Amino acid sequence: ITVNEVIPLIATIDVGTTSSRAILFNRLGQEVAKHQIEYSTSASKEKYAASGKRRFALDDENQPIFSAEGIAISENEFLEIEDLLIKEREPTLRFPRPGWVECKPLNILVHVVECLSKTLSFVYSVNEERIASGLAPYKIHCMGLANMRETTLVWSKKTGLPVVDYGIVWNDTRNAQIVTDKRNTTSEEQQARLRDKTGLPLYSTYFSCSKLRWFLDNVSEVKKCYEENDLMFGTVDSWLIYHLTSSRAFVSDVTNASRTGFMNLDTLDYDDELLNYWGIDRKKINLPKIVSSAEYYGDFQVPKCIKSYLLASDWKLLSDFSNRNPPVPLQGCLGDQSASLVGQLAFKPGSAKCTYGTGCFLLYNTGSKKLISQHGALTTFGYWFPNLDGVEESKPHFALEGSVAVAGAVVQWLRDNLRLIPKAEDVGPLASRVPDSGGVVFVPAFSGLFAPYWDPDARATVMGMSQFTTASHIARAAVEGVCFQARAILKAMSSDAAGAKDKDKDFFEEVVDGTYEKSLLSTLAVDGGMSRSDEVMKIQADILGPCIKVRRSPTHECTALGAAIAAEMAFKDPAERMMWRDLSDVKKWVFYNGLDKGEQPADYVKPDLKIFRSTSSDKERRQKWKL
Ligand code: G3P
Repeated sequence: ITVNEVIPLIATIDVGTTSSRAILFNRLGQEVAKHQIEYSTSASKEKYAASGKRRFALDDENQPIFSAEGIAISENEFLEIEDLLIKEREPTLRFPRPGWVECKPLNILVHVVECLSKTLSFVYSVNEERIASGLAPYKIHCMGLANMRETTLVWSKKTGLPVVDYGIVWNDTRNAQIVTDKRNTTSEEQQARLRDKTGLPLYSTYFSCSKLRWFLDNVSEVKKCYEENDLMFGTVDSWLIYHLTSSRAFVSDVTNASRTGFMNLDTLDYDDELLNYWGIDRKKINLPKIVSSAEYYGDFQVPKCIKSYLLASDWKLLSDFSNRNPPVPLQGCLGDQSASLVGQLAFKPGSAKCTYGTGCFLLYNTGSKKLISQHGALTTFGYWFPNLDGVEESKPHFALEGSVAVAGAVVQWLRDNLRLIPKAEDVGPLASRVPDSGGVVFVPAFSGLFAPYWDPDARATVMGMSQFTTASHIARAAVEGVCFQARAILKAMSSDAAGAKDKDKDFFEEVVDGTYEKSLLSTLAVDGGMSRSDEVMKIQADILGPCIKVRRSPTHECTALGAAIAAEMAFKDPAERMMWRDLSDVKKWVFYNGLDKGEQPADYVKPDLKIFRSTSSDKERRQKWKL
């Protein structure tokens, strides 16, 4: 690999539930440039209105000054909100009714393009300085995408524009009645067969199939478009790739398509039984072609349909970038949770990761083996890199997944609704002020319970309060509520992975007894917002117990890094892979700073990598939490 003339970078886009970002990575997995836009929400709009549009600065101790109405709003926050509201008539994320969560597809596209523009302009300005000082300039040689999954979007083939101005977000529960009716009218046998085909419990509100059904049943414009053969359905990946490649590619990678409920995990294609089951006529609807996570989708083009939303300078910069010769290929795509599995370098079957975002998502790599969970986990794709050498490496890789609907969202709730903390980061220090929750139990089931319980009707509850209860106890109970669900999922997965030899025994005990291989789930690799808090991760480690260590990634942006790795693995010829030849080369550069494993000092630890272990013994732990 020659990098003397230019320093290669990969541009990645990461579209989450509450923000979008673009990040440029170098070969060491470091972020060379990054720009993030938090979505404006109906709540932030109200907050802005309530602030009387006055500006509130930070005081000497860097604390936000409170407005007369008692609303804490910092200078930066004000500027961000103002900036967003100037550009948008409608917020990107809105909550029109209890349980309803909608996003604006056009805004998301605009945010993505703006983020890209900001990172590119940073690199261009740095390049001028680099060239002037005789250093090799940076060059972006491919692009990758990671995105929130299941979110259901519908647009018109004729215009390329959304049929209605919103998409239904993954955690929206408006389809609860549809899934209940389906469950009540489907035989056990068929339920099991559909489960085996999709790997999903279809009677959750989570997946796209019942969200599309809701659109067709309830929105006349969508139904009309469908009857006219003009309806395009897709998740966020399909929507973005379609527009970022100038409508060349209408695709969805396996990690995203497998979350629609329409895809058969064995055939890697849509399944007629599944489509019929949801009343979808394949002839009437345009479905994205299911593709691998790493192959050429198209060349990047700035989408014309959002020109009027962009600043002239952004439009010019991106048009120049689109017209580059050779053009920049968009060629890596992963659902965000699969992307972070890749970004955690969890390539070995048996590796597990947990990302604490809006929700929290555990994935356990089962290699090329499709394992259907008997304990409430989902079967999903980890990644599919078909251009890798080696039969095994190039196969689609499966994972067991446990999704918790609410993780960071409960911290936001403590901040915005209860006003217990001014900033999300304060939750760890507040929770760790007390040694335990003082008997308080918090089940943060704002939108039902996902894995391993799958109860769409469950709602959040706080129990066990007394006059002794303080804000710290509630914060601690909220954090524990998330960490306990992570534990329940690991337990479910480990029972599946071990073939559930002895279902009555506790997995963690069994590891101690040596019933399983020690490597099975001995480490949980963590990333995402809540994982940045040492206090929260200590609580997680204590709840998991002494057999499992919690390892926090040195890379803050595992999800985006995963998309970068996918994009690089898409080149058919390894010689074209300017940053990493294969997955072991990724490890060498990203984890071992370019040295072979044997060349590292024996005690080498990647800077910023942090391990958390349980501080209490198994016995103490069991007594404390009555496990
Ligand atoms: O399945 C939903 C998931 O993909 C959302 O991820 O990062 O937005 O919480 P995130």
